[in-house]
Amino acid sequence: MNVLLMNMTLKKYGATQEILQTLQDAAPEGAQVEMVCLGDWDIHYCKGCKACYTTGQCFWQDGMIPLINRLQKADVVVMAIPSYWADVPGICKSFIDRCTPYGNTNPDSNRPRLGEGKRCYGIALRTGTRPMECEHILASIEHWCGHMGVEYAEGVYFCQIEDKSDIEPHKALLREKARAWFRE
Ligand SMILES: Cc1cc2nc3c(=O)[nH]c(=O)nc-3n(C[C@H](O)[C@H](O)[C@H](O)COP(=O)(O)O)c2cc1C
Repeated sequence: MNVLLMNMTLKKYGATQEILQTLQDAAPEGAQVEMVCLGDWDIHYCKGCKACYTTGQCFWQDGMIPLINRLQKADVVVMAIPSYWADVPGICKSFIDRCTPYGNTNPDSNRPRLGEGKRCYGIALRTGTRPMECEHILASIEHWCGHMGVEYAEGVYFCQIEDKSDIEPHKALLREKARAWFRE
């Protein structure tokens, strides 16, 4: 099983990364796990030209190409997203927008696809206490899954997270999730 862990931010040393690192460390034998951070990739904004609606291709030839390639190879995808101003971080939104050539909002049935049979797990986190912002972020992941032909399998969220030390009390749960999510 190929697992793709996606840090949907620019930051590789924070709480989001700590969550994904914990999942990776607890992955069962046989799981091939790769972790990516969107900040490592050149991702241009969507220009809104809609050329991809007919061509199935984006004007930009940038870091989205290797990222989509990794998604195509993955059986399981985990997206970890912190709340920035009660929504997803800008780089994450750019990534979602740039998935348009592969989504079913494009009426051309010959468009490139991610492939069948994939599962996605969402993880949201925030500093504040109320779950609503995290639920909104998980709904965005579910929405992305719906248009990309990926099964949205489960979402979890963590409130009152300021930095990576706040992940410590949640590590047992994350290890349990890794065993359940990355099973053959
Ligand atoms: C630009 C920015 C905006 C943020 N906005 C919110 C917010 O609206 N609500 C909230 O609860 N936390 C907010 N936070 C806090 C983050 O969600 C929280 O610190 C999270 O742990 C960040 O994960 P990281 O350590 O991987 O960066 C914001 C953080 C940043 C950097």
